[in-house]
Amino acid sequence: MFPGMLGQSLAGKALERGDWSFDTINIRDFATDNHKTVDDTPYGGGAGMVMRADVIESALLSTPKQGRKIYLSPRGKVLNQTLAKELSQEQTLTLLCGRYEGVDQRVLDAHEFEEISIGDYVLSGGEPAALILMDACIRLLPNVMGNVDTADNESFGSATGGLLEYPHYTRPATWTDSFGNTHNVPEILQNGNHAKIEDWRKEQSEAITQAVRPDLLKKNT
Ligand code: ADE
Repeated sequence: MFPGMLGQSLAGKALERGDWSFDTINIRDFATDNHKTVDDTPYGGGAGMVMRADVIESALLSTPKQGRKIYLSPRGKVLNQTLAKELSQEQTLTLLCGRYEGVDQRVLDAHEFEEISIGDYVLSGGEPAALILMDACIRLLPNVMGNVDTADNESFGSATGGLLEYPHYTRPATWTDSFGNTHNVPEILQNGNHAKIEDWRKEQSEAITQAVRPDLLKKNT
């Protein structure tokens, strides 16, 4: 699963340059029985299986430099741009991807894992969540994105005040869609008055945020 999509495009080039690197550890390699068992039934009963604390700890201790330890879980605090930025400034992260019903709580407590969720829905494993967290961090590393302004201008960036991004347009100025409807680029963007364009973009950002994510407006005004 790793580097998956992160081997492509800007993240892939940054990986080749050595701007970031990763190791994967297969937890199953640290099972101690012939069947390579990593999980067992939950104490107290209930559905599903639970990953064993001892096996996970052996896997964890096989990496010498752990840095901030994160368990990807729908129970965690939800990843946002502020947290992505904070994590992107860490030298090393260790990401634990769970399967089954979860992980024995004792290993999370003993090794002080932070729990992070990528949203209020349940995946079948933590790996896609880890890839998303990594993507959000890697693109914020110095040199990974071509234009240094870009990351701050987009949705949730500091230049938009944590709001959603305004709409974008490029040539041609007039475009007719396959239904026969003609669409023009807003006049204000074509006349080169930067102060007016900035005002217009701010208004658009606020209107879009009000319509789609009013919770962000409350947070940022
Ligand atoms: N594992 C399963 N669901 C998840 C989620 N929403 N976020 C992070 N890890 C998960």
